[in-house]
Amino acid sequence: MIDDLIRKNRSCRRFYQKHAVKPETLEELVNLARISASAGNLQPLAYVLSCNPNKNKKIFACLGWAGYLRDWPGPEEGERPTGYIIVLHDTTITKDPGCDHGIAAQSIMLGARQRGLAGCMIGTIDRDKLYKIIDLPDHYNILLVLAIGTPKETVVIERLGPDGNICYWRDENGTHHVPKRSLDNIVVKSYH
Ligand SMILES: Cc1cc2nc3c(=O)[nH]c(=O)nc-3n(C[C@H](O)[C@H](O)[C@H](O)COP(=O)(O)O)c2cc1C
Repeated sequence: MIDDLIRKNRSCRRFYQKHAVKPETLEELVNLARISASAGNLQPLAYVLSCNPNKNKKIFACLGWAGYLRDWPGPEEGERPTGYIIVLHDTTITKDPGCDHGIAAQSIMLGARQRGLAGCMIGTIDRDKLYKIIDLPDHYNILLVLAIGTPKETVVIERLGPDGNICYWRDENGTHHVPKRSLDNIVVKSYH
């Protein structure tokens, strides 16, 4: 069921690094993005894929992890993603990619979950550094990095507390908790 898949599809930031993601799996996931909705059907997105440990190491060094977990610098060696999908904007197609990359990223993450994988969309990117690493022509902009691997963490959804704090946290067992606003909080009007 798609409901279960969306519920389970939490951002994951720790992985079994020994269980490597296959290049063909990354291609299958991009194929899901390829057939997803696109404003005006312009399809201005392009992708760089990496399953290569040396390249992955360099990509990892460009990413910012879990800003609310102040004492955690990101996954340590052995728990890092084994695959990356870098989502690009081809500016020769349109100047504005709209929200296409969000839709593409969600298709990829749902496909990953369905395959027993997990990942995290990363927007905190040292773009100048990453450009040099992937050596792209100037007409590509980096929009998002999708970090993917075999999940090694438990993530649970929580109700937002009365203080309205939206920050995720980790408990003493390492379980990651993600507060979500309640339905009555976000449905502003409902005409019956
Ligand atoms: C556009 C976008 C950018 C994000 N950037 C980062 C990021 O740079 N680093 C990170 O650790 N998580 C990032 N996340 C993951 C969010 O922190 C995560 O979605 C949020 O905490 C809610 O958790 P959930 O995905 O499990 O619902 C990003 C998510 C989105 C949608």
